[in-house]
Amino acid sequence: MKVLMVCLGNICRSPLADGLLREKVRINNLDVQVDSAGTSGHHSGEAPDYRMRTTAKTHNLSVDDLRARQFHRRDFDEFDLIYVMDKSNYANIIRLAQNEKDKNKVKMVLNEIMPGMNSDLPDPYYGGVQGFENVFSMLDEATDIIVNKRLK
Ligand code: 4NP
Repeated sequence: MKVLMVCLGNICRSPLADGLLREKVRINNLDVQVDSAGTSGHHSGEAPDYRMRTTAKTHNLSVDDLRARQFHRRDFDEFDLIYVMDKSNYANIIRLAQNEKDKNKVKMVLNEIMPGMNSDLPDPYYGGVQGFENVFSMLDEATDIIVNKRLK
């Protein structure tokens, strides 16, 4: 099983989702690979935003070693589940899908907490520290559900 987390820059939301899910996969001893990517290649090669690294550290999680990369069409072949953070990511990824099987792999991450609501996980990039805390708490909850409902 392979799971991909996707946002715009791959430096704030999706690396945290990636780090949280990796840690829970490790703790539960599951045979699952986790990665993340951005729809934009603007930050490719960069470590996660320092504010996201700091927020993660306050919760005893390190995402320092992750590096941003851009989503590629071949990721549809590679991954079984592709979680996007907001409707804009969803539209950008769906545009690259080749068939229905590809499209069915793409899920809105907050639908794990609020099924069918298609709620956006707010982009914290232009806001303050509280935005990063909110992202942490929502992704912590969503990744708990992903592990228990989809990966066990
Ligand atoms: P992310 O946040 O999509 O959660 O990684 C952003 C990172 C960078 C930019 C926007 C959002 N940016 O415009 O550079």
